[in-house]
Amino acid sequence: MNEPQPVLIVGATSAIARATAAEFARRGHALFLTARDAAELGRIAADLRLRYGQPVETEAFDLADTEGHASLLQRVEASVGPLYGVVLASGSLGNAERTREDEGEAARLLHINFTAPALLLNRIARELESRAEGFIVGIGSVAGDRGRQSNYVYGSAKGGLALYLQGLRNRLNSCGVQVLTVKPGFVDTAMTYGLPGLFLVASPQSVGRNIATAVDKKRDTLYTPWFWRWIMLIIRSIPERVFKRLSL
Ligand SMILES: NC(=O)c1ccc[n+]([C@@H]2O[C@H](COP(=O)([O-])OP(=O)(O)OC[C@H]3O[C@@H](n4cnc5c(N)ncnc54)[C@H](OP(=O)(O)O)[C@@H]3O)[C@@H](O)[C@H]2O)c1
Repeated sequence: MNEPQPVLIVGATSAIARATAAEFARRGHALFLTARDAAELGRIAADLRLRYGQPVETEAFDLADTEGHASLLQRVEASVGPLYGVVLASGSLGNAERTREDEGEAARLLHINFTAPALLLNRIARELESRAEGFIVGIGSVAGDRGRQSNYVYGSAKGGLALYLQGLRNRLNSCGVQVLTVKPGFVDTAMTYGLPGLFLVASPQSVGRNIATAVDKKRDTLYTPWFWRWIMLIIRSIPERVFKRLSL
C-alpha cells in the first residue's frame, strides 16, 4: 500500500482550513496542522484522526516568525514525510480603523497576510519543484481584487499574495506543481463573526469542499462561492473616477 501523501495546513484552526483539512483526510492524505493555538490544534487533530483514520500531526507555530520557517519545515518532514501539498489558510482581518493611525497594526497585517506567507511558500515551492509534484493552495480574498477605503491594508496584502501566487504558478507550471489561488467572499467564521453589512455569507464546509475539488481539477483560481467571480468582475470594471467617490 502507498504511503499517504502529506499535506501541511497553515492556519489550521480556521473553520475554512478545518473543513479543507477534512476533505484532504477523506482523500487519504496525511496531515500536519499548524497555527498558534495548541489546544485547538489538538482537538481538531483528534477529531480528524477519529473520522478519517489518517495520520494527523500538529505543532503550535507563529507564522510571523519567518526565521523559524526552515526548522518548522524540517520538523514537518521528519514527522509526516516529504510534503506533497500545502494549504495556506492563515490570515488576520485586523482593525482597519487602527491601521490609519497605527503603523504597528498596519505592519502586523501586511506581515501576517503577505510577507510571512510568501516567505514560507518560497521554501515549500523549492521542495515541490525539486520533486516535480504536488500542490500549493493560497487563500487570498475578494478584498484583494480592488482597493477600498474600508480595508485596503488587509486587501493590499491579499492582493499581493494573489500576485505572488500567480508568479509562482507561472514558474512551477513546467514542472507540474499546481498553484491554486482561492478568493473567498464572505464566509461564516470567527474572522467575520459579528461584523455588520455581510451578505451572501457561505459556510466554511462548502468553501472547504470547493477548495478540495479545485485541487482535484487542477484549477488555477477559485472564487468561492462561484458567483463572487462575477461580482468582482463588475466591481473591477467600475471606472476609477466613479469608484473613488463610492463609500465602500
Ligand atoms: N471569513 C471570511 O469571510 C474570509 C473571506 C475572505 C478570505 N478569508 C481568508 O480565509 C482564511 C481563513 O480565515 P477564517 O475566516 O477561517 O478566519 P480565522 O478563523 O480568523 O482564521 C485565521 C487563521 O489564521 C491563523 N493565524 C492568524 N495569525 C497567525 C499567526 N501569526 N501564525 C499562525 N497562524 C495564524 C489562526 O490561527 P491561530 O489564531 O490559532 O494562530 C487561524 O487558524 C484567511 O486567510 C482569511 O483572510 C476569509
